[in-house]
Amino acid sequence: EAGEHESFMHKEMLEQPAAAARVLSGRLDERFGTAHLGGLNMDARETRAIRRVKILGCGSAYYVGQMGAALVEELARIPADAEAASEFRYRDPVIEPDTLYVAVSQSGETIDTLLAVQEIRRKGGRVIGLVNVVGSAIARECEGGIYLHAGPEVAVASTKALTNMFLGFSLLALQLGRVRDLSIADGRRLINGLSRVPEQIQEILDREAEIAEVASQLAAAESLFFVGRVRGFPVAREGAQKFKEISYRHAEAYQTSELKHGPLALVSEQVPTVAIVPDDELTDRNVGALHEIAARRGPLVVITHEGVDLGEVEASPNFLARIDVPRNERELDPVLLVVPLQLLAFHAAMQLGHDIDKPRNLAKSVTVE
Ligand code: BG6
Repeated sequence: EAGEHESFMHKEMLEQPAAAARVLSGRLDERFGTAHLGGLNMDARETRAIRRVKILGCGSAYYVGQMGAALVEELARIPADAEAASEFRYRDPVIEPDTLYVAVSQSGETIDTLLAVQEIRRKGGRVIGLVNVVGSAIARECEGGIYLHAGPEVAVASTKALTNMFLGFSLLALQLGRVRDLSIADGRRLINGLSRVPEQIQEILDREAEIAEVASQLAAAESLFFVGRVRGFPVAREGAQKFKEISYRHAEAYQTSELKHGPLALVSEQVPTVAIVPDDELTDRNVGALHEIAARRGPLVVITHEGVDLGEVEASPNFLARIDVPRNERELDPVLLVVPLQLLAFHAAMQLGHDIDKPRNLAKSVTVE
């Protein structure tokens, strides 16, 4: 029952602080600055032998996989990437013994992800799962994993499961990092950051009314861009996915750096851009790209941090809004940057009168090929 909420998606968004606390519960080791993941079924020697991490998932699970790959590279310095599980099996992939394969799935039943797991295992690879539903097909097929403890998720658009997937990857990357070169001080810094995430998500959710206002300015657009760089790019992809799934607007994600290589041709008063601009090593370059958009009268919504100076962009005629999210450790920024994007998509779709939980043509889990 969605209960007092008008939809499951709304209920599930609001459950995120509690869900996030559950995935972290009992897994943070303050003393040694690491994570305890009892279900991985890998000893320290096996963990140290990993040379590459390959992440597979579909839809939102694929985009959070890209966020996870970035965490693994940043914290553990192991080359990592994510691929759509729906494509992987069809290119006769090379399976390497020293690669750790990670399957990501809320339902644990997505056929494309399950078939990818089976392909890897058939070829002798090691697969772990980041799965929400206990005992699901993917969980059973993997050699170990991290259960996400998000609780049941009903709405097609994933919210709390995605948040917990990100946190699951943070724990994995932390543990992989700590058996390698990540210092105990860095480990503790991240643990401290992780433990702040639930209350910081709550702070964003508390500003729902303000974000709903911004959504009403986007709902009329036929077509939108979502842009971000490096850590911010998978956030933009997830934001565009949510927006198109439930608002049925054309929403396309691009790396901010690629704007000038093509999509800028489409920026106009009719095509708003939602830009992810965290306070990090790329802020100045990101702000530079915002100038390009503002100069073409493109309406702008900027998801950023307090204190980030957007310069003249904020005074440009079609500037719609900035939404500041709380600061955390930079590596963890994506999990907070994504929350306003959920609320934007939700409120745009509500204002357009759509069925939030069951968008047309989509199923919560696709179990046939
Ligand atoms: C898609 C759903 O079909 O499956 C997405 O519409 C979801 O919302 C994706 O992210 C993957 O699902 P799961 O259960 O494997 O995480």
